Amino acid sequence: MAVTVLSSSLSLACGTVLTNRIAKSAMTEGLADASNRATADHARLYRRWAEGGLGLAITGNVQVDRAHLERPGNVAIAGAQDREARGRLRDWAAAGSVNGCSLWMQLSHAGRQTPITVNPRPKAASAVPVALPGKQFGTPEALTGAEIAELVGRFATAAAEAREAGFAGVQLHAAHGYLLSGFLSPLANVRTDEWGGSLENRARFLLEVVRAVRSATGRDFGVAVKLNSADFQRGGFGIEESTQVARWLEVEGIDFLEVSGGNYEQPRMMDSDGLTPGEARSARREAYFLQEATRLRAAVATPLMVTGGFRSAAGMTAALADQACDLVGVARPLCVDPSGPNRLLADPQAMLPSPESTLRLGPGWLSARSPFPLIKMLNGFGVQAWFCLQLLRLAAGEAPDHSLPVWRALGRYQARETAMATALVR
Ligand SMILES: Cc1cc2nc3c(=O)[nH]c(=O)nc-3n(C[C@H](O)[C@H](O)[C@H](O)COP(=O)(O)O)c2cc1C
Repeated sequence: MAVTVLSSSLSLACGTVLTNRIAKSAMTEGLADASNRATADHARLYRRWAEGGLGLAITGNVQVDRAHLERPGNVAIAGAQDREARGRLRDWAAAGSVNGCSLWMQLSHAGRQTPITVNPRPKAASAVPVALPGKQFGTPEALTGAEIAELVGRFATAAAEAREAGFAGVQLHAAHGYLLSGFLSPLANVRTDEWGGSLENRARFLLEVVRAVRSATGRDFGVAVKLNSADFQRGGFGIEESTQVARWLEVEGIDFLEVSGGNYEQPRMMDSDGLTPGEARSARREAYFLQEATRLRAAVATPLMVTGGFRSAAGMTAALADQACDLVGVARPLCVDPSGPNRLLADPQAMLPSPESTLRLGPGWLSARSPFPLIKMLNGFGVQAWFCLQLLRLAAGEAPDHSLPVWRALGRYQARETAMATALVR
């Protein structure tokens, strides 16, 4: 196969050489057992993805605190692991590293976006609740300084466990409104101590975590960050602040920065306007954070991964050739087409499926354009549920079910999540 920009390798500062530029972005799996340990399903799913041709795969968010899960089926590494849990992580790492795929673990703490079924009183930067209709999230309590310091140590311990298990690196999840991202936001973080106020203070937690993880794992282990280019909220974390945080992360020597945006209140990471199949759009429009990435690119030399909307080999190649990014991140298409990367690498005309633009909603009222915030939210959660269920099918070795309507996916997903929350060994 001819070496194109998409199939060219990328050397990272930690010494890892990625075999191509296609990266699977993190997707929560919901496959852990009731003690939040990895299972054989993780290994099966990630082997399938690795065989599909990815240069890099990032796991779904693994939590550093079992009381702050993003969903009950998350894997958690909340301290030193026992033999059984370590063995399971090793199996996952080995399966996801076949075929030259570099497997990195995403580490997170869900903060105020912890579902109420997991924790009715989650800890966060400040006591600012998620502004969404319904009662899915409890009002958070502000972390104390001592609790923040303890969490920094937890991220470091989890990263050391990931290294021990055979993962090539970790990615710190500082996007989408979870704890680290919430600290960066002047709307979610209204603290008046050294962890809030100025950007320097709001970024302190993330930077301390990066340093602690580095010193627990060493220079030859990957450390990356997923950062919002903006929260897209009035008065929120914006591109200017994001650019400054990227500069500080560059000084810390992170291996790459993944650019995303949005949170539960403003779910811009899932914007599907970027691509309508069959419509002649310029390749540049395909990925919807490219413009923001270009601004970050002008400020830092850190390798950039851009995620959100990439679907065609041509669009990916154009973004890489223009040097807007060094890695292209892909998520939703891989829920229905795990071997898509192999096709992209072999054929410059290849396209990944774009299931988000062909989904069957079910009842017409369940529209993203509804004037009612609750309906809009149900639509968003329903679409997310659809992808989560496809991912479970993939992990079970089954084919995707394109005929599944969104409203039914939402019901099935909610029933599964509720049962798993109830079954959690606390
Ligand atoms: C089912 C699903 C689960 C996701 N879970 C995570 C996650 O655990 N961590 C994360 O940073 N992003 C998560 N995302 C966001 C994706 O990584 C990505 O940023 C987003 O889907 C846009 O990329 P795409 O257009 O290629 O799907 C998730 C997305 C989906 C669809």
